[in-house]
Amino acid sequence: MTRFRGATLLVTGGAGFIGSAVVRHLLRDTDAQVVNIDKLTYAANLQSLPGADGNPRYRFEQVDICNAVDLRKLFEKYQPDGVMNLAAESHVDRSIDGPGEFIQTNIVGTFTLLQEALRYWRACESNKRAAFRFLHISTDEVFGSLGQEGLFTEESSYAPNSPYSASKASSDHLVRAWRETYGLPTLVTNCSNNYGPYHFPEKLIPHMIIKGLAGEALPVYGSGQNVRDWLYVDDHARALSLVLERGRVGETYNVGGCNERTNLYVVESICDLLDSIASHGDGSRRKLISFVTDRPGHDLRYAIDATKLQTELGWRAAETFETGLAKTVQWYVDEQKWWRSILDSGYAGNRAGLAGTKP
Ligand code: NAD
Ligand code: DAU
Repeated sequence: MTRFRGATLLVTGGAGFIGSAVVRHLLRDTDAQVVNIDKLTYAANLQSLPGADGNPRYRFEQVDICNAVDLRKLFEKYQPDGVMNLAAESHVDRSIDGPGEFIQTNIVGTFTLLQEALRYWRACESNKRAAFRFLHISTDEVFGSLGQEGLFTEESSYAPNSPYSASKASSDHLVRAWRETYGLPTLVTNCSNNYGPYHFPEKLIPHMIIKGLAGEALPVYGSGQNVRDWLYVDDHARALSLVLERGRVGETYNVGGCNERTNLYVVESICDLLDSIASHGDGSRRKLISFVTDRPGHDLRYAIDATKLQTELGWRAAETFETGLAKTVQWYVDEQKWWRSILDSGYAGNRAGLAGTKP
């Protein structure tokens, strides 16, 4: 194994869902020295990094990416060869109720990180400067909503509809501008919905698994006909390390697994998988499905064309939706300690994001 040998990578948001998958992947499959920079918000969980603490190639720093002074110290201390920016407020429903944190972390935080990366990069010696990369991890939600036809490509126009996606779109533009204006070697990825182990229980798939296990109502927004394009989180993590390693500077890459499913199909599939693992007293868990008030500004459909990533960098998703979902449901059944500790520390699983429907 020689990938990233001798390289130090700063991974922001490495205690979150995707960031922790990236850290696990880098420690398991590459030789990189990994510095996890995370503020430890409600969404963070260091239990998502089993074994990392004992690994000599791993360091953790509790730092807010909005804090320029702290970031400067980290760049000086670690002299990194690359940055992967995953730190963000990530939940659309929360952004509807309280957009302020999204503006701070996703926009001001990315700006602050870019400034400190630029300052550091400019002072690097020429070989290090030439090899340095700043990879910004973003979402397909920046493109807005598709109708029944078509796919998002790297040429799709930006048309974000939620405070979350608008803040991510803004950060993508900043990253592009720091490349065009200052020459910082940046790249951007835009990925579809991830799922898999260590996913915070507010998101659709873990939410439904946990409620389904408890025999509680399964709240499907609107008619359940909204479509998301699902990607197993470890496939995303591999895509990100490939883009960092071999992607062309200044380019954007779409990441997606070609797994379009309606929300209702996803929830029904979870019900069936749970029923096959642990029977539910009253028959099928499908009976628990309950259609509730829709999310304000709910995007109808996302779907990714990942041809560029596949042809340029040879990436392929290893999991189909069926294999990935079965693994994920089994993981939540087996690893109850991980998610029960989140419930025990105060996350109640209540509906969020209806503020926009109030006058
Ligand atoms: P997450 O909410 O699970 O984790 C975010 C992490 O960032 C947490 O550990 C949190 O503590 C940390 N963080 C938040 N604010 C911070 C700050 N100011 N300074 C330092 N750390 C901070 O999010 P996720 O689902 O893992 O998403 C990671 C990234 O990938 C985000 O940028 C998100 O927009 C993007 N993305 C997510 C998905 C998805 O389906 N989850 C899809 C495409 C892109
Ligand atoms: O597309 C990528 C995005 O996917 C990421 O950028 C975001 O960070 C990530 O949170 C995710 O956003 P979504 O809004 O698509 O994910 P969420 O899990 O919140 O919802 C998925 C779909 O399920 C969405 O159409 C809303 C619906 N939903 C969600 C919940 C929590 C329900 O019907 N019921 C629910 O209880």
